Amino acid sequence: MKKIKIHNKTWAIIAIFSTFIAIVITGCVESQKVASKGGAQLWAENCQRCHNTPSPASFSHEQWVTIGLHMQTRAQLTAKERDKIIAFLSQ
Ligand code: HEC
Repeated sequence: MKKIKIHNKTWAIIAIFSTFIAIVITGCVESQKVASKGGAQLWAENCQRCHNTPSPASFSHEQWVTIGLHMQTRAQLTAKERDKIIAFLSQ
């Protein structure tokens, strides 16, 4: 009888541990999805919340860099997201 009890406990520990690992893995997959967003997608998702999305041809690369710094604070983007958007806009 005692042996079976220990066995059940082991399974319970494995189940809890597996659930924990699954949550961690799912979390990583989710953040990879966000990190893999390209400049075009970030631009489309963020730059038309407040005004019409200016077309990439509207400004030069130098102008986009300045605008990017300004709009990064407005749109609350990370530096990485801003750089991706600027790279896309400067093509
Ligand atoms: C939270 C609102 C908001 C978001 C999000 C936002 N903008 Fe703006 N944008 C503004 C405001 C307000 C102005 C007017 C200038 C100012 O007061 O900053 C502006 C001005 C501009 C201008 C100048 C327009 C012109 O004709 O001179 C450009 C270009 C621009 N934004 C590009 C972008 C890009 C690119 C993004 C995405 C990274 C973006 N904006 C995201 C609020 C926003």
